Amino acid sequence: MEQTQYAPGKSDLPPQQQEQVTAATRILCAGGVVAFPTETVYGLGADVTNHDAINRVYKIKQRPIDHPLIVHIGAISHLDYWAQAIPASAWKLASHFWPGPLTLILQRSRHIPDSVTGGQSAVGIRIPAHPIALALLDALGPEKALAAPSANRFGRISPTTAAHVQQELGANVDMVLDGGACTVGLESTIISFHDESPRILRPGGIALSALEAVLNGPVMLAHNTINPTIRTSGSLPAHYAPVTPLSVYPLEQIGQHALALAAQNFRILIMTWSNIDTSQLSGQSIEQCAMPADPIAYGQQLYAKLRQFDQAAFDYLLVEAPPDHPDWLAIADRLQRASHRLSNNH
Ligand code: TXA
Ligand code: MG
Repeated sequence: MEQTQYAPGKSDLPPQQQEQVTAATRILCAGGVVAFPTETVYGLGADVTNHDAINRVYKIKQRPIDHPLIVHIGAISHLDYWAQAIPASAWKLASHFWPGPLTLILQRSRHIPDSVTGGQSAVGIRIPAHPIALALLDALGPEKALAAPSANRFGRISPTTAAHVQQELGANVDMVLDGGACTVGLESTIISFHDESPRILRPGGIALSALEAVLNGPVMLAHNTINPTIRTSGSLPAHYAPVTPLSVYPLEQIGQHALALAAQNFRILIMTWSNIDTSQLSGQSIEQCAMPADPIAYGQQLYAKLRQFDQAAFDYLLVEAPPDHPDWLAIADRLQRASHRLSNNH
């Protein structure tokens, strides 16, 4: 996927945003927790080196402590301060895609405390491509970094605007920096380097084809990564889930499911990406949302739409299965995880 390269530096920011960054830096240095924008989703940030602040992030998110946090750093020259034994392919990916939506799982250095990785010897690191995040990291300096998971409660949809963070966590965080809507809208691609060969742990903002082009060879999906051709809700952990039950069906099956549910007086939302006319289904209890047929545009909108549908209090969301193409991997992954909750009763 194409991405914008941002040059780090405070001077890029308008004065009002710069003031916000200065205030946020003060809060972080005092051990506070600040939600901040990245190009993927909003993060819930704390100073990597502050044990109490890290614990607060886990508490606010209601996240199990064995789920490690991603460490956000400000420059590629800081990478070997935070990680060690970095494989050549990791350097190659970092120099090509950073700042950008790519997280590298690397052997941690002694500067990364146990609390950040849940005691694991590996740490996830990335440079976010957002001017506010970069200004914040710049202000924190090279010996601090931002440990940040997505700024949502564990298992829920990641926030892609500051308003989403305010609604979900506002009262619990010390500050929410507003950087507008996230341009990618889905979380970063996560790569690990077992035996030096790169594997995708989580598909995300960087497409598989882009990774393979840079590494000049195939990149495998890790076993626990979702296969886009499997469309039934399996035994996967529920994650990235809206409140409203969500099911994914091929287009030709959506109509019959919608009509069956509508006959039981449920309010249904149908979300499609293909331009096929489903207007014959329109009625008081069946509404439709046409999504873009392009995976980048679809990914930008997905989480905001799911939040909107939750607020509109539909009983069921019926989502058209995404195209069986590698560029749709991240979307297929998130939809499949979101649909898990239905597997027991549907
Ligand atoms: O785009 C993103 O990656 C966003 C923004 C804020 O940077 N962050 C994000 O963080 O999605 P989070 O914590 O919601 O998801 C990070 C995922 C988790 O599934 C975690 O288990 C995995 O990364 N992860 C982090 N460190 C890891 C490690 N050392 N080994 C394996 N997985 C790791
Ligand atoms: Mg998350």
